[in-house]
Amino acid sequence: MSITPKFIIVAIDGGAASGKSSTARVLAQRFNLLHADTGSYYRALTAELLGRGVKTANAAAVRAELADLRLGTKVAGHDAHITINGTEVAEAAIRGAAVNAAVSHFAALPAMRSALLAYQRGLADEARGKKFAGLVMEGRDIGSVIFPKADLRFFLSADPLERARRRDRQGQPDAVAERDRLDSSREASPLICPAGAVAIDSTRLELAEVVKKMAGLIAAKLPGGI
Ligand code: DC
Repeated sequence: MSITPKFIIVAIDGGAASGKSSTARVLAQRFNLLHADTGSYYRALTAELLGRGVKTANAAAVRAELADLRLGTKVAGHDAHITINGTEVAEAAIRGAAVNAAVSHFAALPAMRSALLAYQRGLADEARGKKFAGLVMEGRDIGSVIFPKADLRFFLSADPLERARRRDRQGQPDAVAERDRLDSSREASPLICPAGAVAIDSTRLELAEVVKKMAGLIAAKLPGGI
């Protein structure tokens, strides 16, 4: 009797610079998962709207401009990059100071969240179609809103000072505590550790130690482990 390989969905949530992307990247390679960094999607839409001169206070303009955007996906290696009207948004354009300062404000708007909801869920089909063994999606509301029934839901935290140091080392000065405050206090899909998620504090852990904890739990979900 052949065993149908199980397609797994792994959700990783946590604050800014809590280690989500680094761990998700390693897990994607190890288990052949498609990696979706949803923060980069919010950043890409924010960069596009800023470029169009849209202000967060003008909800009607935000809705109108979002309706004009066709979202697509370009898979490169294990990464699912978003495209807007057929064009991939350059990394440099989404990691700069202007987007860092604006993204949490745009991400708090219900119109932004609904523009990305179906898109993010659709990446599971994208991953299946491209024969990945599963999807690892990281963000703020993946385990709470996007995939509440994911096979595994992780919530990463780390001391804010340590997180600010990590961003500095990456050459990306970023007000992580302020973004967390905005992301946690918004009404629409706030950053929370959902009930049942596996919480990991990475302040004093090396990347390899965090990955080891997660990988053990993921392997246990796969037929025969890995
Ligand atoms: O992961 P990041 O720091 O690049 O995310 C940038 C911003 O995007 C973050 O401050 C809040 C928003 N975001 C969100 O609201 N929901 C997600 N699932 C991912 C990111």
